[in-house]
Amino acid sequence: MRYLTIDLVQEGMRVGKTIFNEQGVVLLNANAVLTRATIDRLEFLGYKGLIIEDEISEDIEYNENFVSNEVKFSLARKLNNAILVNTDNKENLYKEIDNLKLLISDLINEMLSKREINLNLLELKMFDNYTYFHSVNVAIISLAIAYHLKMNKADMLTIGTAALLHDIGKIYIGTEILNKPGSLTEEEFEIMKTHSKKGYDILSNGNNLSVKTTVSVLSHHEHYDGSGYPNGLTGENIILSGRIICIADVYDALTSDRPYRKGCSVLEATEYIMANSGSLFDPELVALFISKVNPYPVGSSVRLSNGEIGIVVNNSEKLCLRPTIKIIEENRIVDLFNDKDYLSIVITGLV
Ligand SMILES: [Fe+2]
Repeated sequence: MRYLTIDLVQEGMRVGKTIFNEQGVVLLNANAVLTRATIDRLEFLGYKGLIIEDEISEDIEYNENFVSNEVKFSLARKLNNAILVNTDNKENLYKEIDNLKLLISDLINEMLSKREINLNLLELKMFDNYTYFHSVNVAIISLAIAYHLKMNKADMLTIGTAALLHDIGKIYIGTEILNKPGSLTEEEFEIMKTHSKKGYDILSNGNNLSVKTTVSVLSHHEHYDGSGYPNGLTGENIILSGRIICIADVYDALTSDRPYRKGCSVLEATEYIMANSGSLFDPELVALFISKVNPYPVGSSVRLSNGEIGIVVNNSEKLCLRPTIKIIEENRIVDLFNDKDYLSIVITGLV
């Protein structure tokens, strides 16, 4: 199986994995043969790429995301219903939050039962809608980082719950600011910045979330160098889960399409995270993030700077941006990390 961006998917190709819509309804089963009309429909619905099965990729073991789209969609549906329906009824909102915690707890149990988990960011972003999925994506990325930090289950539950609810304070920010199709004025930005404190307040009053969870929500816009808000905390004075959610939040926001701009590529987002290591982000967490959260997972189709196109067949433990690749035209394997002829060649993007 391999991942192909939607513009390169052709009729006659076979679907590698079952495709669902936002409501969790099956749109196409694995192995279905794609028609032009189906591909156009999926593109219209917002699919950026598909996992397909073809001759070129039949011997490639595709690394599935540790969270299935079914679980992701179910979390998003429950979160969005909880927030939309219950903003004025706190008691019900807190009940819904307890239910969300149970879902997160099930997900963590599943993660901890595996020997290794794989966060496939391409699959995570294959179908996306920022408003609907952002918080769930942030929870999934944060949990993957927590897993690789070998956190215990209680701490993982804290971070998963806080990440899922990190922007809940935005329900108190007017839609004219939230949905403004351009940059905010200074005054509007000051209002926007109040959302982390507002989220902390709503979650702290009268429900059974831990202090660590609510403080993580409060801290998700604090920056390692003290330039963040609301308290301008620095370094390890920022709670660890807050530092993790900060990376996950920025990464997902950068790679998402918004009404006023297209999302940037996984490569650009990874480079942004690396470039801001030690300033916005905790450098140790950035090092872990770029070693474990791979922008080019096995099965992704990539273009090289010499014009060749290949499929990633193996990831380098040392440098995620230099995997081993099967060049499609010549059916030849190159190792971007060790192969001398390829030391000056880089991946320029996905195809
Ligand atoms: Fe936020």
